[in-house]
Amino acid sequence: MPIYHTLGSIPPKRHTQFRKPDGTLYAEELVSTEGFSSLYSLVYHAYPPTIVKALGEPYSVEPKIAREKHLKHTSLIGFNIEPVDDYLQSRKPVLVNADLHISLAAPRKSMTDYFYKNSQADEVIFIHVGSGTLKTGFGKIRFAYGDYLVVPRGTIYQLEFDTPDNRLFIVESFSPIRSPKRYRNAYGQLMEHSPYCERDIKRPTDLQTHDEKGDFKILIKKQGLIYPYIYGTHPFDFIGWDGFHYPWAFSIHDFEPITGRLHQPPPVHQTFEGNNFVICSFVPRKFDYHPLSIPAPYNHSNVDSDEVLYYVAGDFMSRKSVVKGQITLHPGGIPHGPAPGSVEKSIGKESTDELAVMIDPFRPLMLTEDAVRIEDENYFKSWVI
Ligand SMILES: [Fe+2]
Repeated sequence: MPIYHTLGSIPPKRHTQFRKPDGTLYAEELVSTEGFSSLYSLVYHAYPPTIVKALGEPYSVEPKIAREKHLKHTSLIGFNIEPVDDYLQSRKPVLVNADLHISLAAPRKSMTDYFYKNSQADEVIFIHVGSGTLKTGFGKIRFAYGDYLVVPRGTIYQLEFDTPDNRLFIVESFSPIRSPKRYRNAYGQLMEHSPYCERDIKRPTDLQTHDEKGDFKILIKKQGLIYPYIYGTHPFDFIGWDGFHYPWAFSIHDFEPITGRLHQPPPVHQTFEGNNFVICSFVPRKFDYHPLSIPAPYNHSNVDSDEVLYYVAGDFMSRKSVVKGQITLHPGGIPHGPAPGSVEKSIGKESTDELAVMIDPFRPLMLTEDAVRIEDENYFKSWVI
């Protein structure tokens, strides 16, 4: 995220001697993306971040594909994913392609005996139910209902939940997550027409240095495998850091909707983007105010993208009888539109309280075995009058 941030102690000049009270050196680490050519941070550790004591046997968490090719409007009942104590085990990939994996998770317990690092993907963790703290070496971020936690690849983290009742909607992006380019000026600043700005970005706070040696288990994800590593120093041993590469959060409740006299197209809801997909936020807003406007969306053919909607809260204007946590997948290649009756019903309405996350991937998604287990098999008939 292109906002410079710094916490803790750093030397006045980079790559210079920075010493502990006992005269020994802190360990500097450059955390950089796209080689050395994009966002980066400089981190100062109590100990070098390289002290590996043992390696465990890697194991696969690769999604098991049930339906590689399909052309069927599909719905998944997301809250039918079973709660699981452990965070990593609770993550169930449901819709995947080479650009992103979408998972559902209902973890019951905080991470206490291990740390996790996704070294192949940025993670966007949408908090549908629950609250707690994202803990990293960069600092902490408190999270609550409606937050998107954005964790850049390579960030070692733990999630601490306040209660056992948690529902997460997770996107792993194999390219960097960023704000839409059209909302940024040449210097990276979010512009006046952007639906959110830098004040809405929650950055890490409360850096606490864990100057600890011992055995620290870090589960590292790469290429569909989890590699158990035992490091000799606590991964949150940052004395200080500065730069542009760090975890951050944005609340869907801070997304300011763009409205008009006529129905606004989906790009006005865009919140983030990665390579070959966008993430959008549908939030409570005033409806269109032309005297003859039709607030419900028109039928549309997404000719070259799939469309995933994750229903969060409120009455969804285009569809009745959706439930919280439900996912609809409208594949590119066939049209879809409002449910029968919802177009007439929308006329004259002044506002909507709908809340949803939409993802449009430009390459087809595959369904996993976990997805077909929670499928509403008759959804494709839901337009029959
Ligand atoms: Fe749509």
